[in-house]
Amino acid sequence: MTIKIGVLTGGGDCPGLNPAIKWVVKTALDSRLSKERQGTFQVVGIREGWRGIAAIDARSQDDVSQYIVPLDEEIVRTWDRYGGTNLGTSRFNPFNPKDDRSEQLLDNLKHLAIDCLVVIGGEDTLGVAYKLSTMGIKVVGIPKTIDKDLEGTDYTLGFESAVQVITEEIDRLRTTAGSHKRIFVVETMGRQAGWLALEGGESSGAYIILIPELDFEIDRINELLLEGRTKGTRYDIVVVSEGAKPKGGKEFVRKQGQDSFGHALLGGVGECLAVEIERGTGLETRSISLSHLQRGGAPCAYDRRMGRYFGIAAVDLIVKEEFGKMVSYRNGEITAVSLEEAIGKIRTVDISTHYDTERYNGRRTFLR
Ligand code: F6P
Repeated sequence: MTIKIGVLTGGGDCPGLNPAIKWVVKTALDSRLSKERQGTFQVVGIREGWRGIAAIDARSQDDVSQYIVPLDEEIVRTWDRYGGTNLGTSRFNPFNPKDDRSEQLLDNLKHLAIDCLVVIGGEDTLGVAYKLSTMGIKVVGIPKTIDKDLEGTDYTLGFESAVQVITEEIDRLRTTAGSHKRIFVVETMGRQAGWLALEGGESSGAYIILIPELDFEIDRINELLLEGRTKGTRYDIVVVSEGAKPKGGKEFVRKQGQDSFGHALLGGVGECLAVEIERGTGLETRSISLSHLQRGGAPCAYDRRMGRYFGIAAVDLIVKEEFGKMVSYRNGEITAVSLEEAIGKIRTVDISTHYDTERYNGRRTFLR
């Protein structure tokens, strides 16, 4: 018996996706492992996330090759070195209430004879996977998002590569900030959870870190900055998450409207903050948004390894016929949780244990 696996990447891209795809393919097609298994596997890549399986008409067979591509070990051999996703991605929601394509999706899966899906994504993409699993489709998930905000796992692909970008870019900013005695406000991604700003800020030694989990007070920020200058600081780095907002205020929106999962397009808090800081302190302040640079470039060593482990574990779940689950990293072990557990709730920073609310920075005690 040959089982046909379809693999897709959905939502925002990030480094770590290609390593995961590579290891799904290598593990599924491993001839040594096939001796221990009941059947053999075949793998096809689905291009552009859910769009690739919902926007085609598989019955006509016309445009199928544009979206469905056979994968083998030779094709994916070098993929783990590359960022982004070689399969392409989209923020396409087949259950979008304004344009529901779920029936077409189910019909296409049947006509393409895809037996099960490996879905690599964040909350939205895995939310679709969960819905499909409740409709009888065999699905396993792999967690990815630079925001690291998925429930059920301590790690999501792309996070460490993004933290590395933040750290390197802030290293660059330091020399110019220092030369001019300026304050730099650096805006990171992170819609609802502050992990990127917090750990990126900690890695780069930022003086102030602002996260969505605690609404900030501009007067307190200015007070901290002026206090630093009296101690002889020449320049300051303030890291702010795109989802952070002032007390009593709203999130900053980059563009009106929502994506097909209903999310607002955030951005702009860094720029406004820089104006308020300069006004309040009299110190020259500039801002920069790291934006999609954080999702660019090659995966760091950790994302290559985690992509590998998650890809292998996803195939393990298929072999064991444990569908409706997401592979996960918990307490230092690769494991699995139900998709239901992973979606519907965002994993945010617990400010009582992971944040210094007085200093607007990372915690200063661990073993108390
Ligand atoms: O969901 C991950 C994320 O990086 C968010 O932090 C950010 O708000 C969003 O993607 C940006 O998405 P897009 O690529 O659609 O602009």
